[in-house]
Amino acid sequence: MTETNNGEKILDKKITRRQMLKMTGAGAAGIAIGASGMGGILKAFGKDVFLDDDSSATNKVNFYGKHQSGIDTAVQTNIYFASLNVLVKSKAELQELFKMWTPLAVHMMNGETIGVEYKNGMLPPKDTGEAKGLDARNLSITFGVGPSLFEKKELGLSSLKPTELKDLPHFPKDQLEEVYTGGDICIQACADDPQVAFHAVRNLIRAASGKVSMKWSQAGFNSFPVENGKKQTPRNLFAFKDGTENPITSSEKDMNKVVWVQSGDSKPWMTGGSYLVVRRIQLHLETWDRTALKEQENTFGRHRDSGAPLGKKNESDAMEIERKDENGNYIVPENSHVFLAKQSKARIMRRSYSYSSGIVDSTGSYDAGLVFISFQKNPEQFTKIQNQLGRMDKLNEYITHRGSGVFACFPGIKKGSYIGEALFNTL
Ligand code: HEM
Repeated sequence: MTETNNGEKILDKKITRRQMLKMTGAGAAGIAIGASGMGGILKAFGKDVFLDDDSSATNKVNFYGKHQSGIDTAVQTNIYFASLNVLVKSKAELQELFKMWTPLAVHMMNGETIGVEYKNGMLPPKDTGEAKGLDARNLSITFGVGPSLFEKKELGLSSLKPTELKDLPHFPKDQLEEVYTGGDICIQACADDPQVAFHAVRNLIRAASGKVSMKWSQAGFNSFPVENGKKQTPRNLFAFKDGTENPITSSEKDMNKVVWVQSGDSKPWMTGGSYLVVRRIQLHLETWDRTALKEQENTFGRHRDSGAPLGKKNESDAMEIERKDENGNYIVPENSHVFLAKQSKARIMRRSYSYSSGIVDSTGSYDAGLVFISFQKNPEQFTKIQNQLGRMDKLNEYITHRGSGVFACFPGIKKGSYIGEALFNTL
């Protein structure tokens, strides 16, 4: 069988509707599948029944809500981050794309396959299948749009581009590579299982065949030691606890201050959304591993094992960067990462993962590092910190920024609505 997009679509519709009625017995009960197809609206006894979060699913993060998942969601062990180019040529087609993705994301976050499987050996399975038998594994899926999307004339979105959504400026020591930079759309899939995260992106992209192409992607991981039954801050590949100083996700006040775009801050369609900055940062493990522990600790301004600020005992102890020793020297060095980050006075929410992707051909060194991801209500917050780190940050000796992206992540999705509706509704 030839597998053209059109052919696939036609067969899909014919088979799934008929088979779904048969499988669910919906025909007999007088339930009709709505025009939006599977996973969209089911017409039951004259009422619209929307696909919903399954509250009985295990290890489940909700899809619907005030904000998208994957931002204030507790950090999972794995990420699969994908940056896409769009191939569609009109805003109506783009809108259809997000509508089509919505039920697929709901299904996968419920720990289900992307739709009812028809038993027809002559067709490729609807779902690629590698997440079968696994539950939702706390899968979160976050969708965002990049500045380049608004610059495509044929999409007619230019008047809706928020002024703050623009490529990040060039920073000192940046060595960005085109193959890890930019993109029209991002999908951040995080889960407590690498295969579940990968499956989510794979199935979304597969379903959008001919409408998007992959620009770049990066898998990442985190590991959480558990002490007294409590998950601890994960360590990055330099072995330092990473994510200690962050907004308190359970505090609406803090999140509104740092992360969630407030009414009047931006274009109305971004209210309740957030900006994602991603940086693919190589860590020069070989150099680090030759560095004395004291020097490593002075680089970050924290103790490696406990995660405590230098001169303190516990990870949660306050970082007082003004403190000096008896000789009048700062205890937390002035060129340390945290000293400089704190001095910027800007705040962001970091949600990073480590990566390991083979070796860098030209040098034979590990291609490993940090998929640095931060959320903020304005990318300017990130820029302010990165500028402050500038050339001074001692950490610069051990890292190289190789990839970059900035994306406007839509606000949360209401039941019955679809991803990005606010953007299309204002057209
Ligand atoms: C590979 C690169 C990086 C590594 C390995 C790294 C690692 C760390 C570590 C270990 C800490 C201390 C523990 C914590 O509070 O989480 C920290 C703090 C911090 N980092 Fe980074 N970081 C990197 C890049 C960045 C970048 C690019 C930014 C933003 C432009 C940034 C912003 C911050 C902030 C805001 C803090 C908290 C400072 C405070 O105590 O107030 N980091 N980072």
